[in-house]
Amino acid sequence: MKQLIDKLHKTRELEPAEFKELIENRCAELSEYLFAKARAVQIENYGNNVYIRGLIEFTNYCKNDCYYCGIRKSNSTAERYRLTKEQILQCCDTGYELGFRTYVLQGGEDGYYTDEKMVDIIQSIKNNYPDCAVTLSMGEKSFETYQAFFEAGADRYLLRHETANEEHYGRLHPHNLLLKNRIQCLSDLKKIGYQVGCGFMVGSPFQNTDCLVEDLLFIKEFNPHMVGIGPFIPHHETPFAKEKAGELELVLFLLGIVRLMLPAVLMPATTALGTIHPQGRELGILSGANVVMPNLSPTDVRGKYLLYDNKICTGDEAAECRNCLQGRIEKIGYKIAVTRGDHKSKL
Ligand code: SAM
Ligand code: FES
Repeated sequence: MKQLIDKLHKTRELEPAEFKELIENRCAELSEYLFAKARAVQIENYGNNVYIRGLIEFTNYCKNDCYYCGIRKSNSTAERYRLTKEQILQCCDTGYELGFRTYVLQGGEDGYYTDEKMVDIIQSIKNNYPDCAVTLSMGEKSFETYQAFFEAGADRYLLRHETANEEHYGRLHPHNLLLKNRIQCLSDLKKIGYQVGCGFMVGSPFQNTDCLVEDLLFIKEFNPHMVGIGPFIPHHETPFAKEKAGELELVLFLLGIVRLMLPAVLMPATTALGTIHPQGRELGILSGANVVMPNLSPTDVRGKYLLYDNKICTGDEAAECRNCLQGRIEKIGYKIAVTRGDHKSKL
């Protein structure tokens, strides 16, 4: 198995059957071997920097009904909220003082935020903070809309593909949502010039090793700037309430593989990873991740953006999270970088 890791390290790819063999035969010793290489590649590319992104969860209204997601439209118990432009700018202000140079606007697919409103929000952030990057994560839009947001100043876009297997996609989403559209959006975003992130949940219901192999092959082919991989965690008000959460060690193993496959990728140690294990984010960094995304949302709405149960940091102030993460990162020998943290190909 170590030979497969050596091959992946050297050639940055494996055959589908080799990926499958590697995943199915993983063990603690093999994982350590993989992580050591992943850390070396991460340090070769970005030093011991960990990039911070200030996450602003600006709306939890959503027109979609993804079976896994706590803010799906059918969850009538979710307390819905929207942030105004002024509230969003206030979050950016707090974030700037704390050293954030990237703001991630994430939300459900909420028609309230028309193209015009979003363009105004993006332009205002870019005018106030010209040295900052704006990342959007607000789902599937038309080419023209993505283009308008890009022209307004948005730099990056996160749109997880969720699973590269069409049948699996159909078991996670209602029939109006199609993998084909998701992939079209990803390709549009890249064409327009965004730094683009795809990704998937580990341990989502009905996922098997073949699905994971397809995810890895898709990521290799799409060659994104960012990859978001975190565990699926059930939410009690969804059809998947009784399903099991994804496993920590499998998430870490996949982070290590992706680091070897795409050496310069920007990859978060996600909040979901920190939710399934108290040191999840540190372990993520030690397996090949190099980004953390602490929350900048106003404290009074944090407890309402619940994609899954037991989400961490919902009661903390932005500054508390920032300082807590800095301590955690320094303890494992890394440092927080106060820069935009662009992908190497865009510097
Ligand atoms: N609406 C946008 C979209 O669909 O891309 C952005 C918001 S969406 C809530 C962000 C991500 O949260 C999804 O891509 C999904 O992978 C993740 N997510 C949703 N429910 C989750 C759950 N139960 N466990 C772990 N991650 C979840
Ligand atoms: Fe939020 Fe530690 S990151 S309290």
